[in-house]
Amino acid sequence: MSVRLIKAQRAVEGEGFEVRRPFPTQAVPHLDPFLLLDHMGPTTFAAGKGVGTSWHPHRGFETVTYMLDGQMEHRDSMGNHGLLNPGDTQWMTAASGVLHKEGPSATMQRSGGTLHGLQLWVNLPAAEKMSDPTYQDLRVEANARRDEPGATIRVIAGSLFGLDGPGRTRWPISYAHVTLDHAATVVTDLPEGHRVLVYPMTGAVDVDGTTVAEGVLAIVDGATLQLTGAADRSDVIVLTGEPIGEPVARHGPFVMNTDDELRQAFRDFGAGRFGAPTD
Ligand code: CO
Repeated sequence: MSVRLIKAQRAVEGEGFEVRRPFPTQAVPHLDPFLLLDHMGPTTFAAGKGVGTSWHPHRGFETVTYMLDGQMEHRDSMGNHGLLNPGDTQWMTAASGVLHKEGPSATMQRSGGTLHGLQLWVNLPAAEKMSDPTYQDLRVEANARRDEPGATIRVIAGSLFGLDGPGRTRWPISYAHVTLDHAATVVTDLPEGHRVLVYPMTGAVDVDGTTVAEGVLAIVDGATLQLTGAADRSDVIVLTGEPIGEPVARHGPFVMNTDDELRQAFRDFGAGRFGAPTD
């Protein structure tokens, strides 16, 4: 087993919310099939001071947003309108293209509060990039869950820890959230041939003798994964995905295979082919 660490860099997104971003960076442009990981918060804001994004397009991949704390609100040009509460996942397969906006919910805006979440971008293979967009609202109750001594395991998609998550994937990936008390240990087999990422959103975790702190991404190689809590309480995200192995041409909100396809995406967006805002 090997463990490689990447410390998240600070970046500013949308209307000015700060994220910690392990990738993409100049050194690590993507971790096939994953394109981006943004750790949002924890950010505490006063009433009326929350920030999100304005309407913007995506094409060629999926955005997967998972909430740990607070409430996010989402609208898209397919007419979906969702509220994400702690433990909920919003799985937006942008594919051929959608417009969306996301940010603290109207309720949170009125009250102020703490927002803490994660947004993952999952690439799509060439054959799926121009397919129809879809949207899944996965409620906390739908997560596959098991409690063990000092640990809670929730699987949102794919198979890990002997649990099958509810998320429908277009490409083989898995997504789990493990909460660990200090010194509690959980073990899972890893899907063969998958890239494996471990990211503590809070606390710290020991992976094969390496301590991974909050805000640090571990790229793990091996057949099984053992996680041991290295803080009073740790919220650890485990991601696995089969590499797609195709060329990646990306610019801002579009991720295609070629520069020509990127230019087409900008033309289509300019021509209004991504739909219209719904508020
Ligand atoms: Co977006």
